[in-house]
Amino acid sequence: MAIRTIRTEGDEILRKNCREIKEITPRIKELIEDMLDTMYEADGVGLAAPQVGVLKRIVVIDVGEGPVVMINPKIIESSGEQTGDEGCLSVPGMAGKVTRPQYVKATYCDEEGDEYEIEAEDLFARAICHELDHLDGKLYVDIVEGSLHRAGEPEEEE
Ligand code: NI
Repeated sequence: MAIRTIRTEGDEILRKNCREIKEITPRIKELIEDMLDTMYEADGVGLAAPQVGVLKRIVVIDVGEGPVVMINPKIIESSGEQTGDEGCLSVPGMAGKVTRPQYVKATYCDEEGDEYEIEAEDLFARAICHELDHLDGKLYVDIVEGSLHRAGEPEEEE
């Protein structure tokens, strides 16, 4: 268990595509433990492997209902729309308005290799979309509506 360094915007690794996991090795399991530790330490709702410098398709999410480890996650269905503030541990201290689906259905494997299909709404759906974007080198600042503002403060009127 260890806290890893979170890469921040401007680091090229955040812009790269991540590779699928073919085999869940002890090294992968260690990475997942470290990602969870790092996410909780930073008070985040989610973290994707490239944020700790590893180009693999793994994300961890906890929207307050316990940790969800998603290996090779895919969104297979989405519907509706929600618009709200979003932040990212790789863009520290900032937030901005992003529109995401209200509902997503996703498939993934957990760290034991068991396959799951889950349905998510609201914040959980938003977190899945945000974290999966990381695996394709995308950041929320690419699709932010308006400008970024300090997290926890209201958006400035233009
Ligand atoms: Ni992020």
